[in-house]
Amino acid sequence: MHYRPLGKSGLFVSELCLGTMSFGKQGYWEKIGGLDQPAAQHLVDTALDAGINFFDSADVYSYGQSEEILGKTLKGKRDKVVLATKVRGRMSPEINDVGLSRRHIIQSCENSLRRLGTDYLDLYIVHSFDFMTPLEETLSALNDLVHSGKVRYLGCSNYFAWQLMKGLSISEKHHWEKFVSLQAHYSLVSRDVEIELAPLCQDQGLGITPWSPLGAGFLTGKYPRGGQGPQDARRSKEDHNFIQLDEGKAYAILDEVERIATTRGVSAAQVSLNYLLRKSQISSVIIGATKPEQLQDNLKTVEWELSAEEIAVLDAVSSPPRTYPHWMLEFTRLDRDNPTMIM
Ligand SMILES: NC(=O)c1ccc[n+]([C@@H]2O[C@H](COP(=O)([O-])OP(=O)(O)OC[C@H]3O[C@@H](n4cnc5c(N)ncnc54)[C@H](OP(=O)(O)O)[C@@H]3O)[C@@H](O)[C@H]2O)c1
Repeated sequence: MHYRPLGKSGLFVSELCLGTMSFGKQGYWEKIGGLDQPAAQHLVDTALDAGINFFDSADVYSYGQSEEILGKTLKGKRDKVVLATKVRGRMSPEINDVGLSRRHIIQSCENSLRRLGTDYLDLYIVHSFDFMTPLEETLSALNDLVHSGKVRYLGCSNYFAWQLMKGLSISEKHHWEKFVSLQAHYSLVSRDVEIELAPLCQDQGLGITPWSPLGAGFLTGKYPRGGQGPQDARRSKEDHNFIQLDEGKAYAILDEVERIATTRGVSAAQVSLNYLLRKSQISSVIIGATKPEQLQDNLKTVEWELSAEEIAVLDAVSSPPRTYPHWMLEFTRLDRDNPTMIM
């Protein structure tokens, strides 16, 4: 296992992070994993043995159960790990038990600390943008949590690039603590993040931590074209797969992943995770599992590296759309790359 800085912070995290969205079985989340305490303990112990020091949860995962289970699995080891959790989702029908208001952030942080059995969070992440709360209110509350000692670093997730840049500028203006990382949907079947967010993270020094790096299991190759995946697997169980796939393109990408996997004698999952580890600005890839053998497989991706030729093939088949203004800026920069050029 290698360790990388989380953005330009001084905090080092393992290049793989264990996601705990599959821990607990309340409501919708049961379909994601439904793991109980012993099953979760096994995964966490396996991750720790492999050198993982970074764990990701959220208050909404099984409505607090994921945090409770994770906290128990880490009993006695808290200070050896980097613990991340999130706030933003609705936790009860109470009108204010949702969002990124000062009140909800502070209350949610207290609740997460209690469920995780700790008195500080290493990374507190806003789970997505809250269109109902001014960014100033959110960022000032987050800054207060850092200065109160309850939170060490701040991160965000599921933001548009303009929202993230606006947030960073507000924090800078007020000398508040800034986001150090972006948790974003990023995999071979979804490279949209490269259009605006990844260049922004590079410019501003944020680390990227990809979520659903296997497209919720699609990139393992266990969902055959036109057929059914395993009955107990998430993409077969979910009424609505919250990860949207362009199936035609996704299967073309999977063909290349499987070809490389067969040639190398590794799994398709390992190839897909390895691809993300080679991308710039990646601090840690957040992996998920429902079974011990899945985690064992995924962990092996840190033992080898895709070649430049293999990456080029995967880049070509999975490239994101060249949306405006990309093509226009490529055209207009010709007279800057070539100083003597006159149109
Ligand atoms: N910020 C956000 O909005 C957000 C959103 C989603 C997730 N996350 C974070 O990201 C983490 C990972 O997300 P994810 O679980 O969607 O990641 P993923 O890697 O795309 O999917 C993981 C799932 O794929 C299957 N799988 C994994 N490895 C496998 C293998 N080697 N062979 C066969 N099947 C395998 C398992 O599900 P089955 O057994 O059911 O097939 C596993 O739970 C979460 O735990 C959470 O911490 C964050």
